[in-house]
Amino acid sequence: MDATARSESGLPIRPLYEDSALAGFDPGARLGAPGRYPFTRGVYPSMYTGRPWTMRQYAGFGTAKESNERYHELVGAGTGGLSVAFDLPTQMGYDSDEPVARGEVGKVGVAIDSIEDMRTLFHGLPLGEVSTSMTINAPASTLLLLYQLVAGEQGVTGDRLTGTIQNDVLKEYIARGTYIFPPKQSLRLISDIFAYCHRELPRWNTISISGYHMAEAGATPAQEIAFTLANAKEYVRTAQAAGLDVDDFAPRLSFFFVARTTLLEEIAKFRAARRIWARIMRDEFKAKNPKSQMLRFHTQTAGVQLTAQQPEVNLVRVALQGLGAVLGGTQSLHTNSFDEAIALPTQKAARLALRTQQVIAYETDVTKTVDPFAGSYVIESMTDELEAAALELIQAVEDRGGAVCAIEQGFQKSEIENSAYRIALEIDGGERTVVGVNKYTLDEEEPYEPLRVDPQIEIDQCARLAALRKERDGDAVRRALDELRTAAAGTGNVLHPMREALSASATVGEVSHALRDVWGVYVPRDTF
Ligand code: 3HC
Repeated sequence: MDATARSESGLPIRPLYEDSALAGFDPGARLGAPGRYPFTRGVYPSMYTGRPWTMRQYAGFGTAKESNERYHELVGAGTGGLSVAFDLPTQMGYDSDEPVARGEVGKVGVAIDSIEDMRTLFHGLPLGEVSTSMTINAPASTLLLLYQLVAGEQGVTGDRLTGTIQNDVLKEYIARGTYIFPPKQSLRLISDIFAYCHRELPRWNTISISGYHMAEAGATPAQEIAFTLANAKEYVRTAQAAGLDVDDFAPRLSFFFVARTTLLEEIAKFRAARRIWARIMRDEFKAKNPKSQMLRFHTQTAGVQLTAQQPEVNLVRVALQGLGAVLGGTQSLHTNSFDEAIALPTQKAARLALRTQQVIAYETDVTKTVDPFAGSYVIESMTDELEAAALELIQAVEDRGGAVCAIEQGFQKSEIENSAYRIALEIDGGERTVVGVNKYTLDEEEPYEPLRVDPQIEIDQCARLAALRKERDGDAVRRALDELRTAAAGTGNVLHPMREALSASATVGEVSHALRDVWGVYVPRDTF
């Protein structure tokens, strides 16, 4: 049996790193200065010495009113930016009163059906001052336009709006499943969003290209950054093919990764990802603007590493994971609540998760200097080795014709499934210790009362929808939806007719169905 310790990516970890590990290592060329190409040490010259990362806690459940209350609590507790979780019907482009939505309304996130709900969701929150992330993919354009419309009613013009939509459908085909349209139409919609935001919402981050969900599905750190960056290349190629100049949209691309408990490898992973992306953007896509070469990212601590057993132990895991994200130079961070492996987080658990970030930011000294691990034998060795492993995987995707072709061949999915299977075998076999699960267990777990979603939510939400449909001008909605279908059948940017339809109180489901009518839906090859 191989006695060598191995990283999550399967790379050897030496019991002792010495100067031989960095023989011939040229810090100038390999690292660059913070805020300078290739950004290995971070995207800003001052990093946290100037301003801590954004503490951005992902939240949302039930009705827009309940989520609005949670956002006010989080802002009151010191969170720096909002992060909206939507329920599955919203994420899949269905209305709360559709049969397919039954039992899911308001469950894993907030139910948003219309401009009315969006008004309620952001009631009393100054949209010209907060940055808001929305975790929405296939209907990202719809929710972005609803946000812009509601901000406009607050008198906030598009040029002042800051935030992010996840809008990364390629990873949905690989690892999460909240896709609607076939890849070609999804990519068209995403480049329409790039073009629309360049003109109307210049400070908005148009996409959050995510490795998180692939990591949660079992991807190793090398696979996580490789498949994410391969997806990113596909988005850049699509936007360039649509006639957009790379420096017009690339500065507003952003990324999203996981932070595992194996923090040394995670720090190296983030540094390697920045260096790979900087080189791809400068050398392959000829981006001239340094902001086009910067990999700015959000991190969420690893949900899959939370345990339902002895849930308080998750407080320690999340603290270590959060520390790894900060030492790796994240721009924005969500720390999981310790009870999330059981159910939706209680208010106290959500507050503790935020406090964890605040302790790292204000009680440790890791924000007092930039990229503290630079020059470390182990971190620089791991950064180089992860970079090489990720580049090999990126090439494997490119050799299959790029991310979409590789997805259609099932390549990324099968690679991730193999990793997930290996991890499961290691846990079952005891090779991989999970405290409280396969070691240091309790004979009897202590009871824990989680937060429950009230079934009344679905009834109330459907009643609100019925009232909206009754009060609005139905003919105006029908006309606007027909214009959206016409645009979708042509080559124009669909966001303009979509905004008109939403402004007339068309619902998220109606807009998505109008596009389904024209574009159809994605059916994976392995679906019988
Ligand atoms: N020096 C100089 N300027 C600095 C600085 C420094 N040290 N630090 C920050 N700034 C500036 C930045 O330039 C920026 O200004 P700009 O907007 O004019 O460029 C401003 O301050 C804000 O800084 P950032 O952009 O770095 O930070 P944000 O928090 O605004 O943005 C992001 C971070 C990663 C770029 C952005 O895309 C983001 O917020 N992403 C969040 C995504 C998210 O929350 N996703 C949740 C997913 S949950 C999910 O998927 C489901 C679940 O199942 C996991």
